[in-house]
Amino acid sequence: MIGTLSGKSQFFRPGGGGKRHKYRFSRKKEASTLARARWSLKLIVLLAAVGAAVGLGNVWRFPYYAGKYGGGAFLVPYVIMLLVLGVPLLIMEFAIGQRMQLGAIGSLQKIRPKFSGIGLGAVLCGFVVVSYYAVIIAWCLLYSIYSIDLKWGADTKEFFLESVLDLSSNPGEIGQISVPILYSLVAVWVLIYFSVWKGVRSVGKVVMVTMPLPVLLLVVLAIRALFLPGGMSGVIYYLRPNFEALKDFELCSAASSQIFFTLSLAFGIMIAYASFRDRSSEIAKTAIVTAIINSAISIVAGLAVFATLGYMATESGVDVAQLAGKDSISISFQVFPKAFSGIPFAPLFAFGFFIMLITLGVDSAFSLVEAASTVIHDKYPHVRTEDLALHVCIVGLLSGIIFTTSAGMYYLDIVNHFITFYGLVIFGLLEVLAVGWWYGAENLRTYINEVSDIKIGKWWTWLIKFVIPVVLVVLLVTSFWKDCHEPYEGYAQWAIWCFGWGMLIVVFAVSFLFAHFSKADD
Ligand code: TRP
Repeated sequence: MIGTLSGKSQFFRPGGGGKRHKYRFSRKKEASTLARARWSLKLIVLLAAVGAAVGLGNVWRFPYYAGKYGGGAFLVPYVIMLLVLGVPLLIMEFAIGQRMQLGAIGSLQKIRPKFSGIGLGAVLCGFVVVSYYAVIIAWCLLYSIYSIDLKWGADTKEFFLESVLDLSSNPGEIGQISVPILYSLVAVWVLIYFSVWKGVRSVGKVVMVTMPLPVLLLVVLAIRALFLPGGMSGVIYYLRPNFEALKDFELCSAASSQIFFTLSLAFGIMIAYASFRDRSSEIAKTAIVTAIINSAISIVAGLAVFATLGYMATESGVDVAQLAGKDSISISFQVFPKAFSGIPFAPLFAFGFFIMLITLGVDSAFSLVEAASTVIHDKYPHVRTEDLALHVCIVGLLSGIIFTTSAGMYYLDIVNHFITFYGLVIFGLLEVLAVGWWYGAENLRTYINEVSDIKIGKWWTWLIKFVIPVVLVVLLVTSFWKDCHEPYEGYAQWAIWCFGWGMLIVVFAVSFLFAHFSKADD
């Protein structure tokens, strides 16, 4: 969706400028007008947060993980991680950004100067993510064009892997850059850049249209697929809970990575976002509602995907599990085009659907550009935000080019595993320790309860100080053990080092050096 954070800067900082201003109604207004203005302001706060969270993480990544890890088996750790990690961390990020009125680096630096490195690391992880995330939006853009004549034909899998990606057989065969994907990528970055300053005025209205429409379409697709032969079997595979799965640490790691990703946690995004809000804005309810809407959308997207997958499995005479697990990273691009076949006005619906996915994705990508510009702006208030955003976009575009090659999907898979698990979990852990122990979770809880409609109990402090750090450390250690013993997905070691560990090491080294040279008054 278009226009969130910059939008907020206008909504919440009427005076503009480098420093955060408390939102005040400058002129006297009638009571009713005032009440309405406040109400719409609250709604916009919520919609903007939802806009940053909901994106391709819900329609592409969630079904991918559900497919890879066994449908209902994935849903159980997902819901648990949402409650244990997602909601408490979202409350924490909202609170710390709003309290400090600074982006991730500044907020953490205020707690302790050296903690600035944690904020930088989070933003860098987000930067790596946005470089491949934009490529996925570019695929959506291509699909919106292919929709016009339903170019994908009957075999949507072959179409995606061969005709669109021209996928090579292994990461070593880099092949060539796909020109259509590259052009789309450029178009996507232009869109992202323009939404930074164009979307500003339209924030509330745009979000209100671009959010419900794709959700409505997803519901329609899900219901329709349910009535196709085999649709139900897909849904059963997806929804049948499997509590045994909780014993498998890999599933729990995957679920935690998905929660961080989908709620944009530990990217510095939600902290930057909250920093634009008035210090007395509601926190707990906003966070809870954001998390609920976000996960509800993921679950509906999963329904549409798995019902259609059930139909596809029946059509080709194989098992749903077999179809779901294989090439699951591309599952949405195999399944959604198929879901449109046979419905009246298919090209029109498909076109609309992919355009809406683009708006969902651009909104999330844009929130990162905004988070990155915010941290730089905090440090160098004299630099114009537009210039910062332009530079961030250009670097993002250039770093995404590697993912447009024939082996791009392999690289994307590796980066997606390493950065969105190790990167986010480690920076998430450091963040939670900094806030929980140095700043003081109880301290923050008092503040949250002062401003929130929903009061949070002592359980939150316990989660932040003890439970979440322990859970994250256990997941880190077990995943590290596994990844050291067997190469992720059997990829060649050089690829894993280059796109996995290597990239992590660079992010950590830069953050560490930054922290090392940080001073209190920077
Ligand atoms: N929350 C977004 C989604 O679900 C994904 C996301 C998180 C993201 N952090 C990001 C996208 C950083 C771009 C950059 O789609």
